[in-house]
Amino acid sequence: MATTMQFGESYQERVYLPGGEWVRMRLLRPGDKELLHKGFNSLSAHSRYKRFLAVKKTLSKKELCYFTEIDQEDHFALCIVGWDKKSKQDVGIGVGRFIRLGKDSDCAEVSLTVIDRMQGKGIGRLLLEKLIVAATERDIKRFRFECLPQNQEMKKLVQKVCPIVEFKNDAGIMIADAVITERETDSRQHSLNMFEGLIDLMGGFAAETLKLQSGIGFEMVRPSLDALFELRGRVG
Ligand SMILES: CC(C)(COP(=O)(O)OP(=O)(O)OC[C@H]1O[C@@H](n2cnc3c(N)ncnc32)[C@H](O)[C@@H]1OP(=O)(O)O)[C@@H](O)C(=O)NCCC(=O)NCCS
Repeated sequence: MATTMQFGESYQERVYLPGGEWVRMRLLRPGDKELLHKGFNSLSAHSRYKRFLAVKKTLSKKELCYFTEIDQEDHFALCIVGWDKKSKQDVGIGVGRFIRLGKDSDCAEVSLTVIDRMQGKGIGRLLLEKLIVAATERDIKRFRFECLPQNQEMKKLVQKVCPIVEFKNDAGIMIADAVITERETDSRQHSLNMFEGLIDLMGGFAAETLKLQSGIGFEMVRPSLDALFELRGRVG
């Protein structure tokens, strides 16, 4: 794997979600079997059905190996991990993966999963945008998605992120074939996320300082707070 790749083995980034939570994004590793298993167990039956297109009650050891012991080239997976303050442990939030359809093919099949309580917060979109960048680094030019025809969330997500897409129905499965193009919005959006996170941290710090040091006149801190809120307005 070339070292200049953004999505090489050491790839890791912190992402600030619009809901106000920091999460980490990195490549899925062989050591993530338990994390993946727990994440799968936390999914509703409905989400599992939408992901696997069948009733799926458990992930076997063999499947856990298949999903985590991957070459990150023809079979690539990214995960989003949060921190559970109660158990003081990582918690799996989402996984995005693609698997090249045959040796030398420039097409890969994509799957996305976000745990139920975190759905609808932009994580699926973020994962898909990152997968596109990782795929173009691996000479993949097309993505295939196989979903239930009633999976409108997925359909809308694909349409938003992949403007060049064709949908067809094959034996009760909705197949979306998309030509992928790396868009400049990816890194820009990330910078905005990081920027907003920084502003939040600074705002929180200023508020704490005000609470702790009641001796500081509010008027002294007021200009910095105003500047922060003005900045946030411009970013948003
Ligand atoms: C499909 C899935 C990955 C989407 O992830 P997500 O984090 O919930 O989606 P996002 O919040 O990023 O939403 C992205 C877009 O999808 C669409 N979308 C998401 N949830 C939606 C919903 N409940 N209804 C309609 N559209 C929805 C919207 O267009 C949204 O963009 P917008 O917020 O700008 O309007 C997630 O719902 C999931 O894991 N579902 C179960 C497994 C699955 O279906 N996998 C797909 C088969 S491989």
